[in-house]
Amino acid sequence: MFNEKFVEMTQHGSAIRAMFMYGLERAKVVGPENVFDFSLGNPSVPAPECFNQSIQNILEEMDPVAVHGYSPANGLDVARLAIVEDLNRRFGTNYGINNIFMAVSAAGALAHALRAVILEEGDEIITFAPYFPEYMQYVTGAGGKLVAVPANTETLQINFEAFEQMLNPKVRAVLINTPNNPSGVVYSTETITRLAEVLEQKQKEYGHSIYIISDEPYRELVFSGVDAPFVAKFYANTMICYSYSKSMSVPGERIGYVVINTEAEDYPYAVATFAQISRGIGHNCPPSLMQLAIARCAGAVSDLSVYETNKNILYKELTRMGFDIIEPGGTFYMFPKALEADAKAFCEKAKEFDLLLVPSDSFGCPGFFRIAYCCTTEKVLRALPKFEAVAEYYKNR
Ligand SMILES: Cc1ncc(COP(=O)(O)O)c(C=O)c1O
Repeated sequence: MFNEKFVEMTQHGSAIRAMFMYGLERAKVVGPENVFDFSLGNPSVPAPECFNQSIQNILEEMDPVAVHGYSPANGLDVARLAIVEDLNRRFGTNYGINNIFMAVSAAGALAHALRAVILEEGDEIITFAPYFPEYMQYVTGAGGKLVAVPANTETLQINFEAFEQMLNPKVRAVLINTPNNPSGVVYSTETITRLAEVLEQKQKEYGHSIYIISDEPYRELVFSGVDAPFVAKFYANTMICYSYSKSMSVPGERIGYVVINTEAEDYPYAVATFAQISRGIGHNCPPSLMQLAIARCAGAVSDLSVYETNKNILYKELTRMGFDIIEPGGTFYMFPKALEADAKAFCEKAKEFDLLLVPSDSFGCPGFFRIAYCCTTEKVLRALPKFEAVAEYYKNR
């Protein structure tokens, strides 16, 4: 007999996947070019040349037994070194090899960071709406309880009033995601500074650490002129969970890392602890070939410019049509207000126009919808009349 908890979860699939699957079926009927699917956050640009070239070179140059063998649980030193050098150069940090643990993308990195801080069943991890729906699985799977602070819908920055009321001694970490999926909003320096101040004070009051776990798969997807503060510089007890999925357009390759500050309370044994957590969750080590590729091009990014082009078009045109949107500072997502209070009903209506959008309910922030504009600009331009038709429908109903 299978575990009921997991069997029960099969009844509550992801709203994003459901819309994506609908799109595939609909395409068989009306043709793929007539379905405007903005549901899935799958990067739409190729990996940087350096990444592909490195893989080819590694396969030609290196001993295949070593290339395809297990790496140490902490990751390959060449990869860890290349990453910390890149971070130190770009952000003025002081990371060394012992700060970093290679992981299977952001999801794998979060699995380690969360398990490290959750001490007992029911310990709380606070996050801020709107948030990535998988956080529920990540946190409950690690034995914790996810608590979401309601959104500040005016700015989509942190709702500090609600946050401060929800803090309590059971809180072990605050899980943030900036640039944010689903809103595209980047937390300001003011927001991060205030977050750090509140947590410093609460750590003293409760007599134990409260970590910031900063989930940063979109760190490199920041639009021109936007200030994106490096969270770890503001607060000692910070762990960053990073993934190359979006910056290098390689989500299927499953490569990322956790990096912990030297000033963090648990730094001296952090990486060794992550290695022990790995054993229990069957993580063991991320793919060696991917680690070797990262070692050769740690700082490379794909040409991400199409996302900013798409954002500019959609923000300008949808605003003109009457949609209420906080302009994204990064990512490839946008989070407009739905044109009726029930976002699910709104997205069902948009579906009638073959416009596939994700209602915001599963992001913990009802009344909005997410557009994932990781696609060609041509598709964005062809979709504009569809958005216009939906807006017209709501004006005239
Ligand atoms: C906010 C956020 N966190 C974590 C992840 C998981 O990233 P990965 O697939 O690289 O593990 C995603 C993926 O879309 C995401 O959007």
